[in-house]
Amino acid sequence: MTDKRPLRSAQWFGTTDKNGFMYRSWMKNQGIPDHEFDGKPIIGICNTWSELTPCNAHFRKIAEHVKKGVLEAGGFPVEFPVFSSGESNLRPTAMLTRNLASMDVEESIRGNPVDAVVLLTGCDKTTPALLMGAASCDVPAIVVTGGPMLNGKHNGRDIGAGTIVWQMHEAYKGGLISLDEFLSAEAGMSRSAGTCNTMGTASTMACMAEALGTSLPHNAAIPAVDSRRYVLAHLSGMRIVEMVWEDLRLSKVLTKQAFENAIRVNAAIGGSTNAVIHLKAIAGRIGVELELDDWTRIGRGMPTLVDLQPSGRFLMEEFYYAGGLPAVIRRLGEHDLLPNPEALTVNGKSLWENCALAPIYGTDEVIRTLDNPLRADGGICVLRGNLAPAGAVLKPSAATPELMIHRGRAVVFEDFDDYKARIADPDLDVDETCVLVMKNCGPKGYPGMAEVGNMGLPPKVLAKGITDMVRISDARMSGTAYGTVVLHVAPEAAAGGPLAVVRNGDMIELDCNAGRLHLDIDDEELARRLADWQPPQGLLWDGGYRRLYVDHVLQADQGCDFDFLVGCRGAEVPRHSH
Ligand code: FES
Ligand code: MG
Repeated sequence: MTDKRPLRSAQWFGTTDKNGFMYRSWMKNQGIPDHEFDGKPIIGICNTWSELTPCNAHFRKIAEHVKKGVLEAGGFPVEFPVFSSGESNLRPTAMLTRNLASMDVEESIRGNPVDAVVLLTGCDKTTPALLMGAASCDVPAIVVTGGPMLNGKHNGRDIGAGTIVWQMHEAYKGGLISLDEFLSAEAGMSRSAGTCNTMGTASTMACMAEALGTSLPHNAAIPAVDSRRYVLAHLSGMRIVEMVWEDLRLSKVLTKQAFENAIRVNAAIGGSTNAVIHLKAIAGRIGVELELDDWTRIGRGMPTLVDLQPSGRFLMEEFYYAGGLPAVIRRLGEHDLLPNPEALTVNGKSLWENCALAPIYGTDEVIRTLDNPLRADGGICVLRGNLAPAGAVLKPSAATPELMIHRGRAVVFEDFDDYKARIADPDLDVDETCVLVMKNCGPKGYPGMAEVGNMGLPPKVLAKGITDMVRISDARMSGTAYGTVVLHVAPEAAAGGPLAVVRNGDMIELDCNAGRLHLDIDDEELARRLADWQPPQGLLWDGGYRRLYVDHVLQADQGCDFDFLVGCRGAEVPRHSH
């Protein structure tokens, strides 16, 4: 252990004046003895527990194990709640509150007597929100994830959270299964504590936290109910106390090199498109420049090795049993595909030191080899063109290869309500060669940029047995969804991007090889249409947080953070409260 440093928390508890008396005295109503205030590192346990965030509903038990570790290492644990953005219940979308949660985290850390934090994260938005808030403070921090649910079971087979809903609903709409059959999978899909067990956004962000070096190895994949999850929580509690003495702050871990590693790992795991937005937002908070083109430079063309739904076959349980993320990182590193093996992680070792000898179990089916990948062209395909001047994304591993170069007639929906009202209309002029276009689902337009980009196909197309079409919008897509889906078109329609002026019958060209998304009208016509464009009505919320959101949210290529939240503001201790 390095020499003891002055603790931040001593500015609350370390004096014998009026202030020290007050800060200690009220804390003592919890039964805390004098010696606890005697220079022990105070570890905040930032808890997104909520019964309305079912994926995080088991977090109080995880917090107990973190506390055991903190106590064992000589720290003083203090658990506190922060806003819990739950994906499954929150309407209009949990994304609306990611930044709100990040503000809660940032101010909770800065204003309180904590020397470091353990971030308990699980459901999709909770991981980026807590990392964003902690990064803006730049304190020592370690991520402990709640872990994925056990495999879903239904009708004699394994089913994946989220993915099975999209699959069965399309089958039901196409008349291939009954309503009873559709509804019968509900209880079997979510049968244990934990987050979605597919490589959806929660699993992706847990892998990103691990690849960034902000968690202990194996944090991403240990199932929520596996006893090793509690061991990891305990060890993380022990480690964060050492990190205080080492002054191992987030800025030493969250470097540009770490983000480059994460982008490469995202390709290897077939991770969610939402990672593009969240990594940008986290990078912005710590002061790292990260651009969409970094995803092309580092991630594009990288093979997808992990054979998990929605791109592949298996679920997070199998992923853990096959060796989890350290095994993937080992595979990359052994083929010189880890951009920055020396990047520092929270355990004080480099990413490569942690993973070089990671065991890989089984038959290379779940974590595939480089010469037998799930998809040779994984990663995120960044698209640009007159339809997306600031960029758009597509996930090749979830797309149909034949559709990734496609020219088709636009069938336009003005917004999600318009889509829902007309998609099942037998008279809708659409066939499988068309391109479904949806507007006004971006950060300002929805608002909150809901996960509606994987528009279900028209029933009359589904009835032909067709399962994919090219779809384009300014929305996001659930990490559990799939299809040849162009997302995050920027600028969004509601901000006056060219998407706003696409008309029925326009021809659109998608070329994923060239990274091109083109509206086939001439420049003068496009300029004329944009000059005539009027913002959609009803967009300006009257007040409250949602008004703040619409006024300050940045576009998707900028990570959808608020303009005034970008940057690291440190954790200088504020003046006394009395
Ligand atoms: Fe919470 Fe998927 S809904 S992790
Ligand atoms: Mg999700």
